[in-house]
Amino acid sequence: MKTDNLRIDLDRLLGRLDDLATVGAIDGGGVCRLALSDEDKAGRDKVRGWMTDLGLAVTVDGIGNVVGLRPGQEDGPPVMIGSHIDTVATGGRYDGNLGVLAGLEVVAVLNDAGMTTRRPIAVAFFTNEEGARFHPDMMGSGVHQGDLSLETALAADGIDGATVGAELARIGYAGDAPVGAVTPHCFLELHVEQGPVLEEEGITIGAVTGVQGISWTEYRFTGVSNHAGTTPMGMRNDAGYVAAAVAMEARSIARDMGGNQVATVGTIELGPGLVNVIANEARVTVDLRNTDDKALMAAEERMAAFVTGTAGAEGVGMESRSLARFAPVDFDPAMIDLVAGTATALGHSVKRMPSGAGHDAQMFAPNCPTAMVFVPSKDGISHNVAEYTAPEDLRAGADVLLQAALSKAGEA
Ligand code: GLV
Ligand code: MN
Ligand code: MN
Repeated sequence: MKTDNLRIDLDRLLGRLDDLATVGAIDGGGVCRLALSDEDKAGRDKVRGWMTDLGLAVTVDGIGNVVGLRPGQEDGPPVMIGSHIDTVATGGRYDGNLGVLAGLEVVAVLNDAGMTTRRPIAVAFFTNEEGARFHPDMMGSGVHQGDLSLETALAADGIDGATVGAELARIGYAGDAPVGAVTPHCFLELHVEQGPVLEEEGITIGAVTGVQGISWTEYRFTGVSNHAGTTPMGMRNDAGYVAAAVAMEARSIARDMGGNQVATVGTIELGPGLVNVIANEARVTVDLRNTDDKALMAAEERMAAFVTGTAGAEGVGMESRSLARFAPVDFDPAMIDLVAGTATALGHSVKRMPSGAGHDAQMFAPNCPTAMVFVPSKDGISHNVAEYTAPEDLRAGADVLLQAALSKAGEA
C-alpha cells in the first residue's frame, strides 16, 4: 500500500492535546503534573485509555513506563515513538505531551487506513522525564535502556520526601512488565524546541543532531544563625551569602566560557528564612550544560573549586551531591538524514540543530538508531505556562514523525 500520502488529522491531535491539558491545568493555560502525583496518575489513565481505544496492547513496566504496541506483519523489534507526559510545576501543554500524542496520532492514521506495517509500532510514555520532583531526569527511559538501575530509581526520594517506589505503588503504576524487555528497531521523538532558534530563523522543522551534556549538583551549606544587626561582617558564617555567591559564579562561568556553556541556579532555599537573621542553612542547585563534555567538566571543576573556597573562607560547612549527569549524545546520522529528508520532501524548511533540553530519546541513542523532530516554540518559551506552538507547526512536525516512522516500519 502506498503510504506517502498519509497525513495526520490536526483536529484530532489538537483535541487530545487540549483534553490532556485539562488534567492538572493551572492559571495561564499551563499544566502541573509532577511525576507520580495524583495529576500524573490522572493524565496516565487518560492516555492509557486512548491507547486501549486505539487497539494497542498496553504494558506497564517496573518503573511505570507505559508502552502501547501495534503489531506488524512480522514480529521483531518495533519502531518506537515516545516521550513523556509528566511536567514541571509551571509546565506548558506541549513539552513531552506532543511527542506521545503525535505517536497516538500515527497509530490512528494507520488504523483509519486499515494498514499493517511490516514492523510493529510502539508508542510509549516514560516516567519522570522532567526530574523536577525526583532526580535524575529521564528516569524511566534511563531505566528502560539500562543507564540507571531499577533499584536506584525506585529508591530516589523527591523534593517532598516521597520515594519513587512508594509513589508508583500508590498511583497504581508499579507494573509487572520487565524493564527494557525489547530494544527497539529505532526510536523517534517529536518535541517542541523549547528555545528560540527555529522561530528566529523562520524554520519549521529541526532535525536534532544530539543533546548537550547535563550536570545537576545540589549544595547544602551550614552556617551559624545570628543577629543581623549586631554581628560584625567579619564574624559571620553566613550560609545565605555562600549560596548567593554560587549563583553569581554560575553566571560568571557561563559568561567567561562563552560558546554553548549555560548555567542556571534554579533553587535557593535559606533557613531560617527571616529578614533579620543570618541564614544558618542554605540549599542551592546548579544546572550546567554544554555540547562539549570536556568543557562541561571544566565548568564543573571551576564551580566545585569555587564552592569549596568560598564556603571555607566564610567558615560554612558544605556537602554536595550529584543529582544528574548525562554526557552529550549524538544521534544516528542516517536517522538525522531521514528526519531532514522527510521534512524537505513534505515541503518544510529544516535546520540541523542540537537540543539544549534533555529528552528521553537521548537514553535510547546509544542502543538503537535514534532521532528527534523539533517544531518551533513561540518566543522560545518553555517550562512556563505560556509555552505555545502554532497548530500548523504541530501538523508539520507530526507529519514528519508519521512519514519517518512509516519509512522505518517498512524496513526488514
Ligand atoms: C528536561 O526537561 C530538562 O532538560 O531539564
Ligand atoms: Mn520534554
Ligand atoms: Mn521539560
